[in-house]
Amino acid sequence: MINTKNRPDRHTETIPAGKRVAFCRCWQSDKFPYCDGTHREVNAEQDDDVGPVIVGAEAESSDE
Ligand code: FES
Repeated sequence: MINTKNRPDRHTETIPAGKRVAFCRCWQSDKFPYCDGTHREVNAEQDDDVGPVIVGAEAESSDE
């Protein structure tokens, strides 16, 4: 079981145009669903290699 902190299994986020957000994939972040760097400890403890997924929203074009 990886979701040991019983985080919600789904969430919806809106990313502002031009921003990037790092989402946690180790399920251990205290700022879940955002990555807070805890995955480094998880990787060291469990000899794993997990990290965040970084999602970006393109800035809106001023041409439109
Ligand atoms: S804290 Fe979970 S991926 Fe970074």
